[in-house]
Amino acid sequence: MIDDLPDHYTDLTRALEVATDNLAEATSIAGHPMKFMSAATHNSGGFPQTRLLTIRAFDPEQRCLSFFSDLRTPKIAQLAAQPQMQLLAYDPDVRIQLRLDGLVTVIDHPEPLRAAWERVPLASRRNYISDPAPGFRISDPTSPHPESDEGAFDNFTILEVTLVRLDWLYLHIQGNRRAEFIWRSHAPFDKPDEQHWLVP
Ligand SMILES: Cc1cc2nc3c(=O)[nH]c(=O)nc-3n(C[C@H](O)[C@H](O)[C@H](O)COP(=O)(O)O)c2cc1C
Repeated sequence: MIDDLPDHYTDLTRALEVATDNLAEATSIAGHPMKFMSAATHNSGGFPQTRLLTIRAFDPEQRCLSFFSDLRTPKIAQLAAQPQMQLLAYDPDVRIQLRLDGLVTVIDHPEPLRAAWERVPLASRRNYISDPAPGFRISDPTSPHPESDEGAFDNFTILEVTLVRLDWLYLHIQGNRRAEFIWRSHAPFDKPDEQHWLVP
């Protein structure tokens, strides 16, 4: 039975390597369990606000996770007031939970936005053109889906989350394992400033 234990059960470096693979695969594999991450912000009343976001890219060198969003959604104003975000994902196949703290930059440079926009299919582009803006109260939910994507790019943005802490949890019948990884400097994802085992 003990032979079944993966090396990340007792090896912090392996745990982080596996987390790196989890995040990279979430960006590239359709249907990956970590593709949709729960992302938490705070509203002005102090209430946590969670929603699912689709992971678009992971850059381990920059410790950066990227998501697309609409500039007009409430989360953008919340992030302007408080740029901290917590991301949560779980893969039941490998029984690993990732809880990631990060600082969000809302990208406003046209070049990276335009480059990303070129890869957004027309059907998805229409999600950025709703009028009125997302979250507005309406009396009729059946307004027609727009035919064109004209004007949609103006509402498109990228959220870049620079990771500062990972709370890593691995579930195992012989005893769960938990670890934290902390980055304070510009170190890449594989070189945290601190790493510790935690009581699960
Ligand atoms: C599976 C799934 C994936 C989603 N992906 C995104 C996404 O990548 N970006 C985004 O802004 N909203 C995404 N949403 C919608 C958000 O969860 C949320 O409803 C919306 O962004 C409004 O959030 P806010 O009012 O908190 O700003 C997704 C929803 C689901 C159910």
